[in-house]
Amino acid sequence: MDSDALKATVGEAFAKQFGRQAQAIVTAPGRVNLLGEHTDYNGGFVLPMPLTLEICVAIGSGLKPGWAKLYSQNFDTSAEVDLAGDKADEWTDFILGCFKLSEQNPDLTAGYCIAVGSTLPMGAGISSSAALEVATLRAIAALAGVDPDPVAIAKTARKVENEFIGMPCGIMDQFASSVGTRNMALFLDTQSLDYELAPLIPDHKIITLHSGVTHKLTDGSYEQRVKECNSACEKLGIGLLRDVGVADLDRINAIGGVEAKRARHIVTDNQRVLDGVAALKARDAQAFGRLMSESHVSQKDDYEITVEETDELVDVAVQLGALGARQTGGGFGGSIVALVKDQDVDRWCDAMTSRYPQTKVLAIT
Ligand code: GLA
Repeated sequence: MDSDALKATVGEAFAKQFGRQAQAIVTAPGRVNLLGEHTDYNGGFVLPMPLTLEICVAIGSGLKPGWAKLYSQNFDTSAEVDLAGDKADEWTDFILGCFKLSEQNPDLTAGYCIAVGSTLPMGAGISSSAALEVATLRAIAALAGVDPDPVAIAKTARKVENEFIGMPCGIMDQFASSVGTRNMALFLDTQSLDYELAPLIPDHKIITLHSGVTHKLTDGSYEQRVKECNSACEKLGIGLLRDVGVADLDRINAIGGVEAKRARHIVTDNQRVLDGVAALKARDAQAFGRLMSESHVSQKDDYEITVEETDELVDVAVQLGALGARQTGGGFGGSIVALVKDQDVDRWCDAMTSRYPQTKVLAIT
């Protein structure tokens, strides 16, 4: 389903649910990350790409002052949220956090109706929460008649995660969703927020394949990595792991322990993003594929965020003809991303999904 079709169905659901027309209907995409994992909260480099899978939010005024009435089309559930209330560990938190932190300062004593629909699966490691935040912030701005700055939206969406949800993530997902361009890789320096679009390699496809293992970042493993990186910085006497690079690997190895491993992944993955951007520009599929596979090994051995299922999928992906493959996103399951020659795409997808029936091709870009 494309954007327009999704907007039409969510608009209809809104009208049916709330007995009125929506005043604004917007979408925001999920993303797949090509290189640079967990580098964002370390001030490093990332290379994500928005997908055509997206979340749609329809918004209008409501009748109950101080409350938002929400409807999820995918789950066919409704909820009422007190705009003066706190988070409830529900999907509605992402929307409530946006109302509280939006730069448009929506009137929280007014009433709102919101319908949400999506073509983006949750728990697949392709940023459904960032897309929901970006779409909600866009909807709030549209209702206020404001054309918002995409970078500002990305920053606010991250703030919702960090300050309201309590997830200490970086800015990659929100930035990719708000600022990225379809069919282009987004090379982002998460420290300066300077960014550049990089072309994909002609005659090749980026395939996003859900492993079937739902990823969950709320069990503390993500936060644990953030703490370990901070501890590595203390041992190295620096403010951010961004302040060291591959030239410092001897110094990094010398701190030993888990901190050395975590820091080694960050500096080598930062370097792989830089090398990856050069490979994209040079249209060098072999080099880009190699970097993807190296990044997976680094996530597996040094950052320890892969699971057996994704390790196996990545190995088999390459055996079946991908030029490179890696787990993508926060980790502990979710999706893998692979680089495959155009002529091999159908055969590769069939071979992967018939050998691993729990997998699903989410996107071919
Ligand atoms: C999650 C976070 C991002 C980023 C990735 C890992 O998706 O939301 O900020 O840290 O994990 O690269």
